[in-house]
Amino acid sequence: MKDMLDRLEERRAGARLGGGEARIAAQHRRGKLTARERIELLLDSGSFEEFDMFVQHRCTDFGMAEQRVPGDGVVTGWGTINGRKVFVFSKDFTVFGGSLSEAHAQKITKLQDMALKARAPIIGLFDAGGARIQEGVAALGGYGEVFRRNVVASGVVPQISVIMGPCAGGDVYSPAMTDFIFMVRDTSYMFVTGPDVVKTVTNETVTAEELGGAKVHTMKSSVADGAFDNDVECLLQVRRLMDFLPANNREGTPEIPSDDDPTRVDLSLDTLVPENPNKPYDMKELILKVVDEGDFFEIQESFAKNIVTGFARIEGRTVGVVANQPMVLAGVLDADASRKAARFVRFCDAFEIPIVTFVDVPGFLPGTAQEYGGLIKHGAKLLFAYSEATVPLLTVITRKAFGGAYDVMASKHIGGDLNYAWPTAQIAVMGAKGAVEIIFRADIGDPEKIAARTKEYEDRFMSPFVAAERGYIDEVIMPHSTRRRLSRGLAMLREKTSETPWKKHDNIPL
Ligand code: HXC
Repeated sequence: MKDMLDRLEERRAGARLGGGEARIAAQHRRGKLTARERIELLLDSGSFEEFDMFVQHRCTDFGMAEQRVPGDGVVTGWGTINGRKVFVFSKDFTVFGGSLSEAHAQKITKLQDMALKARAPIIGLFDAGGARIQEGVAALGGYGEVFRRNVVASGVVPQISVIMGPCAGGDVYSPAMTDFIFMVRDTSYMFVTGPDVVKTVTNETVTAEELGGAKVHTMKSSVADGAFDNDVECLLQVRRLMDFLPANNREGTPEIPSDDDPTRVDLSLDTLVPENPNKPYDMKELILKVVDEGDFFEIQESFAKNIVTGFARIEGRTVGVVANQPMVLAGVLDADASRKAARFVRFCDAFEIPIVTFVDVPGFLPGTAQEYGGLIKHGAKLLFAYSEATVPLLTVITRKAFGGAYDVMASKHIGGDLNYAWPTAQIAVMGAKGAVEIIFRADIGDPEKIAARTKEYEDRFMSPFVAAERGYIDEVIMPHSTRRRLSRGLAMLREKTSETPWKKHDNIPL
C-alpha cells in the first residue's frame, strides 16, 4: 500500500511540474506566475480541488505520441473565494504553449458542465497560443464545444476571463463571450491574428503590444473591462470583484455587512454641483460618498469615460452604478458610452443586481462621426437595456437631464422605480440657449429680448419642478440625504416583481 501511495504522490508531483523546471523558470523570468501558482493566489488557501490531473492528449501525428504531458496544458478544478464556491481553469503555458487540444478542451467543457450544474461562477485564466496546431480540426471542434457552453452559461452563472499571457486565435472567443475580461499590463495580449499574419495580409507592422495589449483593449477596442499591473494584483482584484457578484441568476447578491450607517448624511454633497451649470464636477465623488465605505469596483474605467459603470454596496448589498461623468465631454451620451453602459445594465439585470443611476447628461453627442458610427443604434442599446430591465431601478438626477438622454437614463417612463432629483436638477428638452434660439428665432438680433426670453425659459424649465409636478420625479431630495434615500428605496424594492409577456428572446439592436 505504501508503494502505491508513494507512486501516486510521484505521479502527482510529475503532473504538477507541467512542462518542466526550465519552462517554469522561463515563465517566471517573463514576470508571469505558473498556472498553479495563479490558482493558489486566486482561491482561498488550501481550497483547490483539482480534476483530471492525469489527462493526456491522444494525438499521434508529428511525433506527438512521444510527447505526452499529464494535464495537457490546462489545470482545472474548483475552490472557494472568501468561502464562496467557484470553478477555475488555468492554462499552463509551459505545456505546448497552453495550446488547446481535444483532450484539453474536454477538461474545460467538463468543468463548465459541473459549474452549470452547481450554479457557480467560472473563472478562466488564459496564457496560451491558440489551437494545438498538431491536432488540426480536433482542436477546432474542442473550441466549438467550449464556446457553446459559454453561451449556455451566459446569464446563468457569472463567467470571468483573465488574460495573463498570450491569448490568440481560437482562445480569444471564449473570453469574448464571458461577462468580464481582465488583462495584465505588459505581459498579456489578445488578438485573432498575430503581428506576422497582419504583416502578410495588410502590410502593417505592429508589435503584439500595439496590436492587442492591455492598453489597446481597455482604451480603444473595449474588449477588456480592466487591466492590472501584474499577476498578483490582477488575481486579488478578481477576488474583490467576486465578492460583489451573486453565484448565479437565482441566488441574489451576497450580503457583506458593513459598519457604514445607511442613514449617514454627507453635507458636502449639498455643494457638489457648481453654481455655473457649465462647470464640471466629479461624479465619482458622489458615488464614493454614497456607497458603503467608498468601495467602488469600476468596470471599463479607461473606456468612454463620459459614463461611469461599476459595482458598489449600499447597506451591505451589491448595486450596479451607472453615472454620467460631467468631467468628460460634459457627460454627453455617445455611441461608446451607450454601448458600455448597455452591456453593464444587461449584466446587472441578468444577475438580479439593482441599478442606481446618477444623471447629469446634456444629451446625445451631435456630429457626422457619431451618426455615421451608428449613434442611433448604439444609443438604442442603452434605451433597450434599461427598458427591458426588471431589477429595481433607482435614479437620481443631479443636474442636467436633457432631451432623449433624459428618457434613456432610467427615467420613470421606461421603468424607473424610484426617480429622485436634487434641487439643482434641470429637466428639459434642451438647454435654455438652444431652446430660445429655436422658439424665439425672430428675436435673435435683439440681445435684450433674448436675455429676457432665456431667463423666462430657465425659470420655467431649468428646475426639477415641472417634472415633479407631473409625477415623473417621485421626490426632490436634499443632496446630503442621497445615501439614506437610496438605502430605504432599495429596502422597499427588495421583493420587486414584474411581469413581462412570454417571448423566446428580445431583439436588442446589436
Ligand atoms: C502547439 C504551440 C502552440 C500551438 C505555442 N506552442 N503555440 N504548440 N500549438 N498553437 C509551443 C511552441 O512550439 C513552444 O514549444 C512552446 O509552445 C512555447 O512557444 P514559444 O513560441 O517558444 O513562445 P513565445 O515565443 O512566447 O511565443 C508565444 C506565441 C507563439 C506568440 C503564442 O508560440 C505563437 O505564435 N504560437 C502560435 C500561435 C498560433 O498561430 N496559434 C494557432 C491559432 S489558430 P517548445 O517545445 O519549443 O517549448 C487558432 C484557430 C482556432 O487558434 C479558431 C477557432 C475559432
